[in-house]
Amino acid sequence: MRVIGLMSGTSYDAIDAAAADLDLVGDSLVLKPLGMVSEPYDGELRETLAAALPPGTTTLGEVCRLDTLIGQAFAAAAVRADRELCDGRAELVASHGQTVYHWVTGKEVHGTLQLGQPAWIAEATGLPVVADFRPRDIAAGGQGAPLVSLVDLLWLRGRPGRPVALNIGGIANLTAPDGTAFDTGPGCALIDAAARGFSGGALAYDTDGALAGRGRVHGPLLDRLLEEPYYALPAPKTTGKELFHLGHLRDALAGFGTLPAEDVVATLTMLTARTVADAVRTTGATEVVASGGGTRNPVLMGMLGELLPGVAVRISDELGLPSGAKEAYAFAVLGFLTLHGLPGTEPASTGARHPSVLGSVTPGRDELRLPPPAGRRPTRLLLG
Ligand SMILES: Nc1ncnc2c1ncn2[C@@H]1O[C@H](COP(=O)(O)OP(=O)(O)O)[C@@H](O)[C@H]1O
Ligand SMILES: [Mg+2]
Repeated sequence: MRVIGLMSGTSYDAIDAAAADLDLVGDSLVLKPLGMVSEPYDGELRETLAAALPPGTTTLGEVCRLDTLIGQAFAAAAVRADRELCDGRAELVASHGQTVYHWVTGKEVHGTLQLGQPAWIAEATGLPVVADFRPRDIAAGGQGAPLVSLVDLLWLRGRPGRPVALNIGGIANLTAPDGTAFDTGPGCALIDAAARGFSGGALAYDTDGALAGRGRVHGPLLDRLLEEPYYALPAPKTTGKELFHLGHLRDALAGFGTLPAEDVVATLTMLTARTVADAVRTTGATEVVASGGGTRNPVLMGMLGELLPGVAVRISDELGLPSGAKEAYAFAVLGFLTLHGLPGTEPASTGARHPSVLGSVTPGRDELRLPPPAGRRPTRLLLG
């Protein structure tokens, strides 16, 4: 079955649309990657979204407008992926949507909101759409995240040693072989906020780690940032830009006077590397398979390698899954599982009471036909 996975993460830089040919073969799920297209959000939509996200405030009118505009943008990415990657023969779309709020108090998650109305995707593509993946896991007592961990577990099972999957997006998260999965803290979120702030908006991120590479890590600032209690919470735990945004950095900077932009960015890059490395160490990992846009920051990856002597730090491309597309492929898998009546969560990862079949289905142009229930979840994911 040809499935398009749509994803935009906490960086809301672009909508990634990955297409995969998926097949159940015995106990295996075979994934043939067909490629990815990436559609940057248009500038105005991105600004409207940024203004509505915490710590900003918004109105229901604006939420409605964003739900429609993001739905239309996701629909355009899906149409393009169907045409360019699937010869117009895609059968299903799985859309993560855009997270705008994750309602957390302490360690408890009460709700999560992803915008990008799937009706627009179904209307534009004519295909059935699985969306709203996270809420069911929350209703089952879980964190609603990380969801990609199930795919990581199926994929990395059978590799020698203790492989850990790491994704460095706006937030960084990892999945250990025992299914423990959690957000380690900021991935690129604070680096992006600083790069944008210092450049007056000209830079969306620290391209190729250029600023960090010229700066020096400021020890006292790093120590203060590391005082954030989130890092010491036991897993499972989840976080977002509700916590790690520009205000968080401003609070930490108070009292230090004016520091060179390069030093602040270098310090934030080290903060990500340190908190990721500390988290990796707790899992006893022998190998880290990294993905996400943060893998394109060589200063960050260099620091991570140095902090993890004896651990092989690889990028997922080396194993056949393009690092920039991994999460979009993972949602294609989750949509496929839902359509086949199979659970898409791993309770060890999300903390839920039980595994759940995720999402809600919006019918496409034709009568909704579900494949016969597969009965048993595959035990591994093979790349075809
Ligand atoms: N060439 C690059 N140099 C440094 N950082 C980069 C580069 N390309 C992407 N990134 C980082 O990756 C982030 C986007 O990663 P992504 O995996 O799409 O995150 P998300 O899932 O949060 O959208 C950007 O915000 C940026 O910080
Ligand atoms: Mg992104």
